[in-house]
Amino acid sequence: MADGSGRGGNGPGLGRALILIGPPGAGKGTQAKTIAKRLGVPHISTGDMFRDLVGRGTPLGERARPYMDSGELVPDDVVLEMVQERISRADCASGFILDGFPRTVPQAEEFEEIVQKRHLLEPFVIHFVVDTNLLLRRLTGRRTCSVGGEIYNIYDRPPKVPGRCDNDGGELIQRPDDHEEIITSRLSTYEARTKVLVDYFRRKGKVVDLDAMAPPVTVTDHLLGVLAQA
Ligand code: AP5
Repeated sequence: MADGSGRGGNGPGLGRALILIGPPGAGKGTQAKTIAKRLGVPHISTGDMFRDLVGRGTPLGERARPYMDSGELVPDDVVLEMVQERISRADCASGFILDGFPRTVPQAEEFEEIVQKRHLLEPFVIHFVVDTNLLLRRLTGRRTCSVGGEIYNIYDRPPKVPGRCDNDGGELIQRPDDHEEIITSRLSTYEARTKVLVDYFRRKGKVVDLDAMAPPVTVTDHLLGVLAQA
């Protein structure tokens, strides 16, 4: 799973953070997994980290659970403590991919302070652009491998054997927040709290918009192209 503990091997690295921003279902996790493997850097998904903590019943997980269950954001202080600890680990030295963080302006400001204090290079910020009317189908159709975290879609990217991961045979599960009423709440939360973050980074001239409506392999090619030119 993408708690960032999985490595990508001996890829070329990134040299900095890559921040993926976009609404629920935009394809951030799908792309982050692929790019992390290609570049050999950790994929740090705050959503996956919280789901792991919730699943293990830790105190932090218990704090996060009600927010996740209702499609709201976990408070910034909780998120920041978790992310600071994660990115301080040695495997982040040659760069890392942030999937789902930062998600509010205060999270971004705090992250920028960390970048400055550690003398890291300016992050790349990629904004996934996708029509809202595609997101419901993507999210209600999503199934995730309970072993390796591979992401499927019962409509558009089904596994060879229903309910089982092609890679490791793991059981495919539906996320509890991928039900229609919670999806609606997550999309509203994105509009209210995270969209302003795109404008925040854009004002600083840092954002690259990516067409996330193309097929996943095309999105990957575009993303790698952007990174190669940056
Ligand atoms: P999180 O897990 O981050 O969820 P999210 O942002 O809502 O994003 P998703 O994981 O739903 O979508 P995705 O863009 O990764 O899409 P995917 O690649 O899977 O957060 C969950 C919760 O945790 C939050 O609600 C909040 O409570 C809490 N949280 C997390 N981080 C936080 C933070 N920083 N601050 C506060 N709270 C935080 O793809 C979706 C589906 O589409 C899949 O089925 C896939 O196969 C399909 N698909 C992907 N790409 C394509 C494509 N190009 N074409 C067609 N189908 C595609």
